[in-house]
Parts: sequence; C-alpha cells; structure tokens
Amino acid sequence: MDKIGIVGGVPLKGEISIAGAKNAALKLMVAALLSDRPLVLENMPGVADVIALTHVLEELGVVVTIDPDMPSRMTLDAAVIASTTAPYDLVRKMRASVLVLGPLLARCGKATVSLPGGCAIGTRPVDLHIMGLEAMGSTIRLEDGYLLGEAPHGLKGADITFPQISVGATEHVMMAAVLAKGTTVLRNAAQEPEIVDLADCLNAMGAEIEGAGEAVIRIRGVEGLNGGRHRVLPDRIETGTYVMAAAATDGEIELLDTTTDYLGDAMGALEAAGVAVTPTNRGILATRANGRLSAVDITTRPYPGFATDLQAQFMALMATATGESRIQENIFENRFMHVPELMRMGADVQVHGGTAIVNGVERLHGAQVMATDLRASVCLVVAGLAAEGETVVNRVYHLDRGYERLVDKLGACGAKIERLAG
Ligand code: UD1
Repeated sequence: MDKIGIVGGVPLKGEISIAGAKNAALKLMVAALLSDRPLVLENMPGVADVIALTHVLEELGVVVTIDPDMPSRMTLDAAVIASTTAPYDLVRKMRASVLVLGPLLARCGKATVSLPGGCAIGTRPVDLHIMGLEAMGSTIRLEDGYLLGEAPHGLKGADITFPQISVGATEHVMMAAVLAKGTTVLRNAAQEPEIVDLADCLNAMGAEIEGAGEAVIRIRGVEGLNGGRHRVLPDRIETGTYVMAAAATDGEIELLDTTTDYLGDAMGALEAAGVAVTPTNRGILATRANGRLSAVDITTRPYPGFATDLQAQFMALMATATGESRIQENIFENRFMHVPELMRMGADVQVHGGTAIVNGVERLHGAQVMATDLRASVCLVVAGLAAEGETVVNRVYHLDRGYERLVDKLGACGAKIERLAG
C-alpha cells in the first residue's frame, strides 16, 4: 500500500487549481441513469471515487466516455439499462453507489442494490433514503445484504418530511421524484451547494425542481428527461483543505477556479483564527492575517454550518494555534480517528464524547501515522506539512478517493512531499 512522505516546515507558496466537487460529481453521474440521452459533465475531478462509480454505472449498462483531449469531461450515455443490479463488490468500494436505487426504480420500476456495508466514520444507515422511496409508492425489502426495490406502476409524488437532515437522502429522493407521477415535496431537506448543483443539472435536462438549497424542495414529476451538459461546481472541501494547508505552514497559496461562496461557517471560523481568505480575479488567496493562529471553537452542522468534511483539517490547524479550541462533531459519531494520530505528532487533544479539546502547542513534529478515512488522511497531510521533521502517512488510498493529484498540487507549492510505493 502506498504511503506519502513529507518533510514539514516549508511555507507553501504558489497556486493550486481546484477540481470540481467530488460530492457533486458522484450524484451528477448517477443522474445520468434518469435519461436515455447522453449527459456531458465538465470539470469532473480526477479521483478514485469517480472511477469506482464509473464501474457501477457500466455494470448497469451506462456507456461512460472520458474525452481524451480533456480528461475532466465525461459523457454518460444510459440509452440502455442492461441490468438493474448493483453488486456488493462494486458498491462496497464507494458508498454513494447506493444512490442508483432510486433512479433505477424511477426509470425501470425495479432495482437490486447492495447495501454499502461498514464505513470508518460511523454506521451511516440508509433508512431515510428508503423511507423517502417507500413514501413514493415503492416497496423495498432487505435480503442477503441487498435492497430489493420494486415500483411496478412507477413512483408517485409524495409529501416527505425528513426526521433528520441528510445530504444523500435529499439527493436520492429528489432524483427519483423527477420521474414520479405528480409532485413531491421534501421538507427538512439538506441545503448543501452540491444539491443545488444537482438540481441545476436535472432542470437543464428538463426536470422541474424548485427550492433546492432551501429546506423545502418541490419536484414536479415529468415524463422523461433530455440529455444535457453541466459544469460541476468547485470542490469547497478541497478549497478549504488547501486554505488550511497554506495557513498551517504560514505560506500563501492562490486557489484557482474556486470561490469562498460555499465555505459557509468555515469562512468565519478561519477568519477568527487569523486566516486571511481574499477573493482574487482567478479565485482566492489564502494566507495568515498576522503571526500565529488563534484557537477558535467550532461545531459541525449541515450546510451552511461548519462542514464535517473540514473538521479534521481544522483540528490540524488548531493543533498549533494559541489557546484552547473546542471542536464538536455533530454529524458522524466516529469522526475523531485522526486524534490519536495527531497526538503521535505532539498535538494536545482530549476527546470527551463528540467534543475534542485541542490545546495548541508551539509546533508539531513528524511521525509515522495511519490514515483511516478520507478527511482524516488529509488532516494528517496538513499536520505533516506544518510539522518539524519527517512524517509518513500510511494507507494513502483514502486520499486518492477524494483528492485529485494531491502530491503534485502541494509539491508545486514547494512542499517536500512524495508518494512512496508501499
Ligand atoms: C455526504 C457526503 C459526506 C459528508 C456528509 C455530511 C457524499 C458522497 N458524501 O454524506 O462527505 O460528510 O454528506 O455533509 O456526498 N443518516 C441516517 N440515515 C440515513 C442517512 C443519513 O441516519 O438514511 C445520518 C448519517 O448517519 C449521519 C447524518 O445522517 O449521521 C448525515 O448524513 P448524510 O448527510 O446523509 O451524509 P452522506 O450523504 O452519507
């Protein structure tokens, strides 16, 4: 298994272009199942999760082509659905694959989709997805680890109130509702920018979705969708990660093709910590406002709250800030797996339930650390870049899932970082 070696302490200086958002790209790919006409997606990130989902969609009969002259342009053609079964071996590699269930039910009236199985950051059930699809008239039962869904007479519109905000369930039910008979109303919907991006794409294909980005979404079902062309919005998590890498190393990075618009509460937290994030005509510039960073308390919440996907990286930043920072994780129950690894690097962190208390130390020092999930891994990279001495991050395949050319992008800013064959 490959590793990443970092010799830290170098202030990062340069520019990094930000990819399209992984968490939007995956759902947009699934949306291609709703139409028998091709969907062209531009600004697709070059990450392993996209490839894993490509394999799932190909299994279903979708023809996926990547433009040889522009690898970030992908065409998905679901003219023929050859199979309505998404097998375990493919789904387990990428959780979001479960989102094919609703679109297959909507288009074909049946689907068999493996449950994704365990996940490092918590149990991550799909009960809300199932609740929404059942409310639209399908029956879904669990057999041998597979969800067997049926809607022989098609899906019908429903008024659905989610008892808890879920990004995946909102997107899943929204996609299915596009081809349902009648109107679906989703209440207590998630409001993430990726949901707006998905709705924009679907509307461009002929869907009638109103209110995406708000708590109530209305979807008027249509007979069928056309093809379309859509540009994936910038990855706000990759953006926030590199902002923190710049600040942690006391460097200065211009992030291209992105914006501060989608950072939500992370923007205020970064500013309060002493990170200057200023718009430029090509993107944004990230640097420290002055001297050492200060401790800031954060609580992760659904958008526009502080994103759980930036929590680990923020902890790496707080590890060397002045003072005590309380970091409360509200979304996933097991999302402090980076803590023992940061402590190996000299961080002072105590965990009490869902709260981590970080007492900033003068500096971190390099160590051998183990990556456990995508965002925990990148937190260790940020910490390693700031630390004195050598850090080796093991199990980097997690990073490949969600960060496009991470080593190259950081290396271009002067980081002493390399990928080591494991
Ligand atoms: C998505 C993102 C992930 C991000 C998360 C929260 C993708 C591919 N992943 O994950 O990076 O960290 O949003 O911003 O877009 N829950 C249930 N039942 C369900 C569904 C969710 O109890 O049926 C719970 C989850 O366990 C979790 C909370 O709801 O505690 C929020 O999860 P959700 O918003 O669904 O996250 P994902 O869509 O899986």
